[in-house]
Amino acid sequence: MPKLIPDNILDDVLSRIDIVELISGYIPLKRTGRNFKACCPFHHEKTPSFVVSPDRQIYNCFGCGESGNAFKFLMRYEQMDFPEAVEVLARKAGVVLPLNNSADNKTQGVITQLFKINEMAAQFYSDNLQSRDAAGAKDYLLSRGISWDVIKELKIGFAFDKWDSLINFLRAKGVDLNLMDEAGLIVAKDGGGYYDRFRNRIVFPILDVKGRVLGFGCRVLDNSLPKYINSPETLVYTKGKNLYGLNLAREAIRENDFVSVVEGYMDFILPFQSGFKNIVASQGTALTAEQVRLLKRYTNNVIMIYDSDSAGELATLRSLDIFIEEEVNVRVVSLPKGFDPDLFVRKAGVEGLRKEANAACDLFDYKLKVLSSRYDIKDAHNKVKVCALMLETINKIKNAILRAEYLKKLSLKLDVKEEALLEESKRSKSPRVIPPAQVIPKKKPLNISPTEKLLMSLMLEENSLISRMRDNLSPNDFKDERICRIVSVMFNLVEQGREVKPQILMNHLEEDMSSLICEQEFIPEGLSIEHKERMADDCLKRIKDERLKVIRQRLHEEIKVAQNAGDEARLNSLIEEFHSLIKKR
Ligand code: UTP
Ligand code: MN
Repeated sequence: MPKLIPDNILDDVLSRIDIVELISGYIPLKRTGRNFKACCPFHHEKTPSFVVSPDRQIYNCFGCGESGNAFKFLMRYEQMDFPEAVEVLARKAGVVLPLNNSADNKTQGVITQLFKINEMAAQFYSDNLQSRDAAGAKDYLLSRGISWDVIKELKIGFAFDKWDSLINFLRAKGVDLNLMDEAGLIVAKDGGGYYDRFRNRIVFPILDVKGRVLGFGCRVLDNSLPKYINSPETLVYTKGKNLYGLNLAREAIRENDFVSVVEGYMDFILPFQSGFKNIVASQGTALTAEQVRLLKRYTNNVIMIYDSDSAGELATLRSLDIFIEEEVNVRVVSLPKGFDPDLFVRKAGVEGLRKEANAACDLFDYKLKVLSSRYDIKDAHNKVKVCALMLETINKIKNAILRAEYLKKLSLKLDVKEEALLEESKRSKSPRVIPPAQVIPKKKPLNISPTEKLLMSLMLEENSLISRMRDNLSPNDFKDERICRIVSVMFNLVEQGREVKPQILMNHLEEDMSSLICEQEFIPEGLSIEHKERMADDCLKRIKDERLKVIRQRLHEEIKVAQNAGDEARLNSLIEEFHSLIKKR
């Protein structure tokens, strides 16, 4: 692949794109376990052998061998060249491509520095909370029932009621004012100079799934307004592109295979603290498509638990359509009037909230319930309006059977003939155009040692194993040339401190390598790291043994040749080599 755009940018684009979402925009995908299946768009087939893996962010056709990451899919399907595919996906991911390398290096440098400064600020705020001057803040948090453990876990802090305490702290650490400004931590004064953005507020650091501090949300200690002041948009923080608490909740989300979405920091904290751990906060307003895609990496089932006021209702309704478009199953909890999840847990306990979540309402019923409370459907005009609003949502449903079910239900509930609904529905719908598929059948024979493949797969899944193997193994120890190449790229990436994921690895490899990455050995889910280490060590030993066997065989042959030729000197040195080899074993 041509290398015009720096790898870190390519990696960034890939990590923000969901390949399942991308491909399902072209062909219908069906979930089967952890993966998605479809009939391959690249060759003709009747039974689906085209698999898309959300975990590995790659696709692979077991029929024709076509495989790759998101870039590759666009290149094959849309017949784009590499830079075009990158451009399209970068735009989709909201990543700005550099005009040239030097500009990019500068941005990357700033991004790294912003994360560092944010981390320092978070630590500063967190230390503040321990101080005597923060007694009011501590009392406030405790009065809201937040435990000290959770304060620590969420790295909650306090910004003093001063204009320059953070500025002074960071300056003493040698941080430039311009960088503090770029991090959104300070505000420029009209007459020159700066002051701290967050003052006399509880500080909630917002972390990404890698645990990096993106920005801050900061609450007053009383009823004054604005209730929260948040970080402005920076190079590392964009509103609506992150979910508060996802870094701590993602394991529980996977385990439970659903996530509860609440609005506020406070709504996250009490349920989380009480053991309801598969929860995230959208931080106000409706969910964005980006946020839904973030969640989709962990589960396909969402339960919305927004505040039971009209703002919460509106935000819920707006979010529903996004869930449908992203083909995520969504249900809704309507808490009693005047409650939010925080208050509700305090009144009904976490068990109460669990009960509500279990009894959450289907999105169709929820929307109809809200609309029926707003419009008196005995009036024909109102009925038309409600039908139109319901159809808007129903028409977004991609599954035809589900759509038909909902139409039937709507017809019953509103007492409107199904044919009339269908007619209206057709009128308001525009067909989706799907481009024709290309036919490029191809199949590669593979004959690779399962041990080598297993070790490669283990390292891909558990990056810590890469360094462990690197100390004991050279890429040349692998018999298969392609695995040797893949492993050497893995080692290089790790050396540079980079993450090694399948879709990223593919960016650094030649065309015919990617299929090999797709054909990873099957590793059972839920193995402990110790177990995987043992497996890797086993592979390592077998590969070493194999390598020794090959060398021994070669020596044997050379010894025979030297004997026949009567070459004493050569024979002696070969025999010596042979002995040292045996000693090594
Ligand atoms: P809420 O007003 O429900 O706040 O706003 P809350 O977090 O539940 O706090 P309490 O319970 O009143 O103490 C929900 C979310 O909307 C965003 C914040 O992310 C907040 O958590 N918000 C709200 C703002 O960004 N700015 C505001 O002024 C208010
Ligand atoms: Mn609240």
